[in-house]
Amino acid sequence: MNNQKAGFSGKIGFILAASGSAVGLGNIWRFPYLAAQYGGGIFLLVYLVLAVTFGFALMVTEVAIGRKTGMSAIKAFGVLNKKGSFIGVLASLVPMIIFPYYCVIGGWVIKYGTVFITGEGSAASSDGYFEGFIGSPVSPLVFTGIFIFLTSLVVLLGVQKGIEKISKILMPILLVLTIGISVYSLTLDGAMEGLIYYVKPNFSAFSLKTVVAAMGQLFYSMSLAMGIMITYGSYMQKKDNLESSVRSIEIFDTAIAFLSGLMIIPAVFAFSGGDESALNQGPGLMFVTLPKVFDSMAGGNIVGIVFFILVFFAALTSSISLMETIVSIFMDKFKIKRSIICIIVMFASMLIAVPSSLGNGIWSDILIMGKDFLSFFDFLSNNIMMPITALLTCIFVGFVIKTKAVEDEVELSDPFKAKKLYRIMIKYVCPVFLVVILISSIIGYV
Ligand code: PHE
Repeated sequence: MNNQKAGFSGKIGFILAASGSAVGLGNIWRFPYLAAQYGGGIFLLVYLVLAVTFGFALMVTEVAIGRKTGMSAIKAFGVLNKKGSFIGVLASLVPMIIFPYYCVIGGWVIKYGTVFITGEGSAASSDGYFEGFIGSPVSPLVFTGIFIFLTSLVVLLGVQKGIEKISKILMPILLVLTIGISVYSLTLDGAMEGLIYYVKPNFSAFSLKTVVAAMGQLFYSMSLAMGIMITYGSYMQKKDNLESSVRSIEIFDTAIAFLSGLMIIPAVFAFSGGDESALNQGPGLMFVTLPKVFDSMAGGNIVGIVFFILVFFAALTSSISLMETIVSIFMDKFKIKRSIICIIVMFASMLIAVPSSLGNGIWSDILIMGKDFLSFFDFLSNNIMMPITALLTCIFVGFVIKTKAVEDEVELSDPFKAKKLYRIMIKYVCPVFLVVILISSIIGYV
């Protein structure tokens, strides 16, 4: 079990590559609209608590399993113990559900990028622009297709490394830009009220829904419970500190999410004149709010161009990790050439993405469990499949292979500082929590 693959060049290489997968639309697009919708400060607080306990325990587990076995999810669980094989299969299904709809949002990002590049940013800030765009039958589909094509091209040509190199430079710029836009947003009239809403927990807004939403977001944002971190772990070197690497990824991922909220939520208050219904816009929140912010600032069109290009790269590194996972699963299963699999996955994803796109317009009457297609796939992966995979992973590690298997792997390099917390989380807290989450999702509480 010690077969080490050609690893990352050191700890930093691992952290950057895993962050490339983790930091994406989940942080910039999804986190702010959930925080806005679920009570602001209370959502933020619940998310932070979950990230340092739950997220930490799960990420350590996945990275350790990967490094221990040197394999990706679909094989790693079975190698540790035959009883676990099916968890790998379940985990592998998740990226297949996420990838197509992820690309629909990726397409929206390209559209907004082109709108700003062609100097039309102002138009995008007008009311109804976003709804008009996502509701139209052809245009969003074309942009989704472009996003899938570009992701496929990278995976097909095997130039992920090149993209990772570019994003190593771009992501810090994104961080700085996000801080800059946040500071600007806070200077807008009425923004302070939004800042308070976002950072001050209002405990009366707390409910199980807050926890369910924050938990789904945690999985999604940190690329957990779908085997991706197992794959990254399989490339990590034994001498590198696993615990502190996981902490770094979490901090980076959470910082970008927090800043994205800071950039958007106070601005929502500023532009709606404090009308709280503006907080419930769901997936459109970023696309509706940011053009207004850019429109109100001097040189805003340029800022818009740079912002959407950077977000595009953040989304691309995440979608590459999703597609790469899908392609390698098929390569393991069927002995077909990689290039052919890439092309099949590309076309299949384009087809599967169609309902998620049209569900915002001409197919908006078709609802599954009361949700349009995109929301349904999002719900299915984040609130059903990922909790199930995470639950099974906890039971598998806590009671089948035992937490010691993971602890020993962590301790190969350095002492495991949070070992006690880890053990309690994996064996007791996480499973109980996950069962509650699952039940509430399944009985339609959310
Ligand atoms: N974590 C990515 C994001 O926040 C999304 C993602 C999910 C990427 C699952 C890979 C796997 O955007």
